[in-house]
Amino acid sequence: MDFSLEETLPVDPRRVDRIASPITKAWDIAYLRFGKPDLEEQAAFFKDFGFVIAEQTPDRLYVRGAGSSPYFIVVEKAPKAAYLGLGVEMKSHDDLEALATHDGVTIDTVEGPGGGERVRLTDPNGFTVDAIFNRAPQIQQPMRKAQAHNTPEEKVRINQGQRAPLTPPDIARLGHVAVMTPDFETSMEWYKTRLGLISTDVLCLDDGTPALAFNRFDRGEHPADHHSIVLGTYPVKGYEHSAFEVYDLDAVGLGQQVLKQKGHKHEWGIGRHILGSQVFDYWSDQDGFKFEHYADGDVYTSEYETGYHPLSTQGLYQWGEDFPTTFTKPHLSLGFILETIHNLRTIPSFTLKKMKLLLAMTGRKARPWL
Ligand SMILES: [Fe+2]
Repeated sequence: MDFSLEETLPVDPRRVDRIASPITKAWDIAYLRFGKPDLEEQAAFFKDFGFVIAEQTPDRLYVRGAGSSPYFIVVEKAPKAAYLGLGVEMKSHDDLEALATHDGVTIDTVEGPGGGERVRLTDPNGFTVDAIFNRAPQIQQPMRKAQAHNTPEEKVRINQGQRAPLTPPDIARLGHVAVMTPDFETSMEWYKTRLGLISTDVLCLDDGTPALAFNRFDRGEHPADHHSIVLGTYPVKGYEHSAFEVYDLDAVGLGQQVLKQKGHKHEWGIGRHILGSQVFDYWSDQDGFKFEHYADGDVYTSEYETGYHPLSTQGLYQWGEDFPTTFTKPHLSLGFILETIHNLRTIPSFTLKKMKLLLAMTGRKARPWL
C-alpha cells in the first residue's frame, strides 16, 4: 500500500476546471486579517508562536516573520473574535486596475508597515480579499537553522551537538489559509476568476461532487506551494486554520516545546501530511483559532494536473500523532444551528444530501493501513 488515494473514489468526480482567462494571476498570499477583542493577549500568543511585532497601536496589531514581508497578520480591535479576510500579492499595477474595474471598486493606499496600493474586494462569504502591489519590503532577518544533519552516508557534524536554544522558531512565510464556506461552488468560481488559482488536489463527496480544494497560484514555470488558499464545504462560513513555514523539522519540534512550555493549547501534531507533504504541528490561540507551523511542503509549476480524491480523513497524514476527532468537530452552538438552517434554505448548492455526505467522511479511518 502506498499513499496514492486515486483508486478509492467510488464514482467519477465532477471536474474543477481552470478558468481560461482569469482577470489576474495573483503571485502569493501576503497576509491575513482578524478582528480580536484583546490585542495584548493576541500579541503574547503570536510572540510565543514565533512572530515579531511589526507595529502595535491600541486598535491594531501587525506581526511579521524573519522574511522581507512587512507583516503576515493584521489584527484589528473588535468586540468579537473573527476572521476578516486575506491579502494577496499582485505582479503589477495593471492587475489592480483590472480587478478594480471588474468589481467596481477603487485603488487605495495601504496604511501600516510597508505601505503600497490595494484593491479591497469582498468574496461571496463576506470576507475581504485585498489585492496588493508595491509594498516596501522589510529588512530580512537571518533565520536560525539547525546544525548540519549527519546521515548514515555522511557525518558532517563532528565534535558538535545538535542542540538549539529553546526559543520560538523564526517564521519564514505565510504558507496558506483554509476557509470554509457553505457555498463552495460560488466561492471557487469567485477566487479562480479573479486570482487565477489552480486546484492542485480536489476532495470529492461519494457522489463525485467536489467539496474541498487545495488551490495554488499560477506562476507559470515558477513553482508555487501545493496550496495557498484552501476552500472547503462546511455548514457555516469561517476560518479553519492558517499555516506558517519554518525552517525544518527541528524548527517545528522546537516550536512545539516552546508553545507547550508557555501553556498554549495543542491541536494536532507533529506529523506529515499526504497532500502537500508538509511536516505539521497545529496550535490554537485563546479564541480557538488554529495556527500551524510547517516545514518541507511540496511545490508545483502550472503544468501539474489536478488530482481527485475522496473527501476523507484518509488524505490527511502519512505519519505522526493520532488524528484527534475534536480537530474537525463543529462547536454546536445555537448560532451554528441557526446559520446552518439559513444556509440550507438560501444556498441552492448546499443541501441536506450534501450535509449527510459530508458527515459520512468523519466515520472513516484516518490511516487505513493501521
Ligand atoms: Fe495546513
